[in-house]
Amino acid sequence: METILELRDVSKTYTEGGSEVKAVDAVSLSLLKGEVLLLMGPSGSGKTTLLSMMGCILRPSSGGITVDGTEVNRLEEKALPDVRKRYFGFVFQSFNLFPSLTAVENIELVLRMKGFAGKSPRPEALGLLDKVGLGDRAYFFPGDLSGGQKQRIAFARALVGDPPILLADEPTANLDSKRGNEVLDLLRKRAKEQGRAVVIVSHDPKAEAVADRVIFLEDGRIRV
Ligand SMILES: Nc1ncnc2c1ncn2[C@@H]1O[C@H](COP(=O)(O)OP(=O)(O)O)[C@@H](O)[C@H]1O
Ligand SMILES: [Mg+2]
Repeated sequence: METILELRDVSKTYTEGGSEVKAVDAVSLSLLKGEVLLLMGPSGSGKTTLLSMMGCILRPSSGGITVDGTEVNRLEEKALPDVRKRYFGFVFQSFNLFPSLTAVENIELVLRMKGFAGKSPRPEALGLLDKVGLGDRAYFFPGDLSGGQKQRIAFARALVGDPPILLADEPTANLDSKRGNEVLDLLRKRAKEQGRAVVIVSHDPKAEAVADRVIFLEDGRIRV
């Protein structure tokens, strides 16, 4: 299979109050199109930091990142938003939905931010909600939806622009096991039916069932 994202000896050191924390320590890995990669490891082992560097949200302290053949570490800061827009969809643990916007408006907002809105984004936004089984909740506000439904809206937002890489940080953390399984199934389908690369951070054993490959992090390093 073809590589879409590559990390070479990537490290990240945070400096806080004069002391340094090496959150990620010389991690190398390749992410393939169509695969579901699961990152596991205890709290504080560097999973979120690693995922943020993969998604070009956070710059590494050292090491190289290649996205679809482009060496991201050589790009200027101002070029990164375009890389993020084109390549990545993010599903975060806290849903980051706007409470004053309905489900469909939350999707439209992302369509606009990513420049995919066109003249009338409504049908596109409704189509994405349908894809995650929430077509009948389009005009509900987040406050009137369950945790599972909110997570699915967050998921629909991550599908805007049909990005080749989906990054999900603890996507099942706030869900009961049935809803958790639904979200994991959606992620797996994305990889298997659309050939997207999916990275899931989770300590949920259910996530192991949908993963093609599991990597364990410990103190910022890949455990072998
Ligand atoms: N913004 C930050 N500033 C300083 N230290 C941080 C920051 N983010 C994370 N860390 C530290 O880096 C380490 C890894 O954190 P994180 O990547 O969030 O791990 P995980 O997601 O596996 O829980 C932890 O020791 C954490 O305290
Ligand atoms: Mg984390």
